[in-house]
Parts: sequence; structure tokens; C-alpha cells
Amino acid sequence: MPAFGSEPGKFELAYTREVEAKTRDLYARVATFIPEAEWRLKAPLIAAINDLKAEKNAVILAHNYMTPDIYHCVGDFAGDSLQLAKEAAKTDAEVIVQAGVHFMAETSKILCPEKTVLIPDLRAGCSLASSITGADVRLLKERYPGVPVVTYVNTSAEVKAESDICCTSSNAVDIVEHIAAEWGVDKVIFLPDQYLAKNVAAMTNVRIIAWAGACEVHERFTAEDIRELREANPGVIVLAHPECPPEVLAEADYAGSTSGMSNYVKEKQPNNVVLITECSMSDNVALENPKVHFVRPCNLCPHMKRISLEGILRALQTMEHKVEIDPEISARARLAIERMIALPLKRKSTYRAEHAARVAALEART
Ligand code: 13P
Ligand code: SF4
Repeated sequence: MPAFGSEPGKFELAYTREVEAKTRDLYARVATFIPEAEWRLKAPLIAAINDLKAEKNAVILAHNYMTPDIYHCVGDFAGDSLQLAKEAAKTDAEVIVQAGVHFMAETSKILCPEKTVLIPDLRAGCSLASSITGADVRLLKERYPGVPVVTYVNTSAEVKAESDICCTSSNAVDIVEHIAAEWGVDKVIFLPDQYLAKNVAAMTNVRIIAWAGACEVHERFTAEDIRELREANPGVIVLAHPECPPEVLAEADYAGSTSGMSNYVKEKQPNNVVLITECSMSDNVALENPKVHFVRPCNLCPHMKRISLEGILRALQTMEHKVEIDPEISARARLAIERMIALPLKRKSTYRAEHAARVAALEART
């Protein structure tokens, strides 16, 4: 436990009666997941964070991959990348603490340049964001003149600044079709996730020029994993994130963004479900859907797991680490993000399994 309590004017992190009273309702949300002995260590941090948020007019934007203590007990808004970007754009708070990875904090700062945006741990990166630079995008644009660049939000501000429009996994197909129609072209450059690119390609007639990036969490799932899961758990409903390879989606019952998966469980209440994605997703969704049984094979995202209660408290106490972006890069990146946010969604990108199977079959023949 860090020594916050030993610093003058800082919080005494003991499980006092006051802390117990302040956090009782919050514990009710996570009691089936966090044992009481563990809660006694977490509750003082949670109470201190929530007090400091009020004092500093701060909000915490929590991605669906945050651990349940963060997601359910200190997050003011939780959601997928698109929802968090939208919340950042409309918040009145002076300070945003991003409980997520660095590109998400950059997105918030781009949308709110006048606000203080804090990331609790600078090492919270992303294998997709680190797979491509602004210079790479400039070279691609030289190679394919007149072809619009659609960039997944899992990228740096510099890469977004070189892009015509951003997308997330929840709107990628719509965005690709919109920009191709607007530019009057039959192809787009789609960066940087090769698997999301293939899964989008399966849903549209627009040709996709892809990059070789991959999510280190989702690329590890295989079609064989899914077949084994089904054999071991007859009748299980399989939901997968579209950063998984197409052959994984081909074995799934549904594929969609992190919030898409969460909504599927909320709406359909399957008896037995497995989420093919990062581990904390199942923990968070299970707490909100106590009647649903979750099979839980998963892969941890080491970057998301850099964010902890201790780190969030430290960020609010010290106002570190502030996200800063070159204003010229930020202004150009903002255009690409705002174009995405302004676009009304025609339909949800659900990457139906038969489309993914079609891509896999086409590839097998070439
Ligand atoms: P979502 O936009 O679906 O939340 O995905 C973000 C992410 O990093 C998934 O790995
Ligand atoms: Fe990046 Fe994958 Fe981690 Fe999401 S899960 S932050 S895409 S490495």
C-alpha cells in the first residue's frame, strides 16, 4: 500500500467508520466479486478518490477493460472508446482522469484542449497505437493519392492528424462507407489493425487497404480456442471483439465493440456466455448481469492493467501525468475525431460471422 497517509495534508488510508459509511453503497455493487478483506484495503482509496474528484471538479472516464473497483466504484462514465470520446467532448468538469490507455487520454485532450487531462500511468500504451507513426501515414498517402485515410482511434494524435476521419470498432463499417461515398472512391486506407480491416472488408463492398498492426490481446485467440470452448460448454453463446482474427469471428455468435458485447448480454440475458476479449470485461458485465453465467477464458491487456486505484489517487493528488499535445497536431487530429462523432450511425457494426467466414475462405484460396 503506498504511503499516501504519511504525506502532510494527504488522506489517511485506513478503513474507518467514515470510509465504511461512504463506500457502503459502492461495495454493494462489487461484493460478489471483491472479498471483504480486500475491500477494506480498497475502500479508503475509493473514498479518497471520490472526495478528491468533487474537490477538484474532476471526472473519471473508465474504459470497459478497467478492473471492477475502478469501473464500478470510481468511474463517472464507463464505456467503449467511442462513448468515452463523446463523454469527454461534453463534460463540464475541469479535470479528466482517463482510466484507460494513453491514446484514449490523448483523444480526450484533443477534444478538450482547455481542460487538464491526466493519465495515471504513462506506460499504459497499446500495441496498435505503437504499430504506426505519422510518417508511415504520409508515405501511404503518397503511395495511394486520392484515397481517404480512415484511422482507428487506437492511434497516436500524430497519426490521427494525418487522417481524414477516425473510427472505432462500433462504427467502422459506417465510416468506411460514408467516406468512400463522400470522396466518390471505391477504396479506403484503413489503419492500423489488420484484423479489424479484414472484418470490416467482409461487411462492405468498399476495398480496404490495410496496415499490419494487431492488438496483442485479441490476436492471440484462435478458432480452435472457440471450438474447444463450445465442446466443453455445450450451448454457450460466444461474443468476440472485432480486433480478433476473422476465423475467430467466424466461430462466434456475435461480434461487436466492448459496449456492443455488454449490450448483447444485457438485452438477451443468455444462460451461459463467453466474451472473447480482455479479462475485466467479463468481471464488469457479470456484476451487472447476475443471472448470466460467464465462462471466463480471456487475455489480459498489460497496458490497461497499468491503471490502478493507487495510480488514480496519485494522479488526482499530484495532478500528474498531464497529457500535452502540440496544438497544430491536436487541431488536425480533432477534425478527424469530430468528423467521426458528427456522423449519425446508420447501423451498429456487428461483423456477422458469415461475413468473416467469407473473408477467411477467400484468403484460404489465394
Ligand atoms: P472498444 O472501442 O470496443 O472499447 O475497444 C477498445 C480497445 O482497445 C479494444 O481492445
Ligand atoms: Fe490496445 Fe489491445 Fe490493449 Fe485494446 S486490448 S488497449 S487494442 S493492446
